[in-house]
Amino acid sequence: MTVNPYGMTRFTGKVALITGGASGIGRATAQRLAAEGAQVIVVDNNAEMGQKTVDGITSEGGSAIFLHGDLADDESIAALALAMRERFVTLDMLVNNAAIHRPGRIEDGGWLNNWEIESRIGFRGWLLLTQHLLPMLKQAGGAIVNVSSEAGFVGRPGQVVYDAIKAAIVSATKTMAQEFADAGIRVNAVAPGWTVTEMHFDRHPDPSARRMELESLSITSCVMKRLAQPSEIAGAIAFLLSDDASYITGTTLHVDGGRVGLSVK
Ligand SMILES: NC(=O)c1ccc[n+]([C@@H]2O[C@H](COP(=O)([O-])OP(=O)(O)OC[C@H]3O[C@@H](n4cnc5c(N)ncnc54)[C@H](O)[C@@H]3O)[C@@H](O)[C@H]2O)c1
Repeated sequence: MTVNPYGMTRFTGKVALITGGASGIGRATAQRLAAEGAQVIVVDNNAEMGQKTVDGITSEGGSAIFLHGDLADDESIAALALAMRERFVTLDMLVNNAAIHRPGRIEDGGWLNNWEIESRIGFRGWLLLTQHLLPMLKQAGGAIVNVSSEAGFVGRPGQVVYDAIKAAIVSATKTMAQEFADAGIRVNAVAPGWTVTEMHFDRHPDPSARRMELESLSITSCVMKRLAQPSEIAGAIAFLLSDDASYITGTTLHVDGGRVGLSVK
């Protein structure tokens, strides 16, 4: 029996695929959905970390498998979709989450080094995987959550590629919601604020020290003055995937401690 501190079993008997499920927000989402009863498919290009996530879930009594998938590679995406069709008839939940973040300013051309890889993984790959998995999602009348960012709403110097992709995801969410509604598929996005994940501490010389520093950091960019924990984003994703959100589609839920749309410095 999965350790389930949430007191809910909204996803019993349902199948969920999470891209970038090896780490950060994706891992927390995989853990949350599994705790609420879902059969979880963790997809990532990092097999070692992906398997570790799966092992953690199964050791708690949850149901999870790892499937390799590189969202930068069309053939890998097609192979992943085939592997899904071989194992499952339907797919109830898709969380498009995997992304990378590379800074680069416009003036010095730094952005150009990042454009191809960031957009392939974090936007093109999401659309292509969704296209491949759509027949399985249609069978289930499933739900999709796309992970955008507060960055897609504010724009920041030196982050043009990442931030523009996150804005594009908000738009694509609206398109998907309209294209898939007749198939009974709801599509929403979450826009997290700054969250304590490997994205922000893994490449630091001392990752665990940086993680602890971020966890206690006081910030002025949101009214709650702190960073999010990945589980706080996962909770919002789980809500949008669940029947509790049965009349919500095409929207973006801000999970940012009070930033976008509020008067903060
Ligand atoms: N951490 C934040 O502050 C924050 C804020 C807003 C939005 N987000 C968004 O949340 C999502 C998750 O980010 P995170 O912070 O958990 O990052 P993370 O780096 O902890 O996790 C990203 C995961 O994606 C995987 N990945 C990278 N390239 C891949 C590829 N080519 N194919 C398949 N998987 C790949 C990584 O291996 C990793 O497991 C991203 O879309 C990110 O943009 C993060």
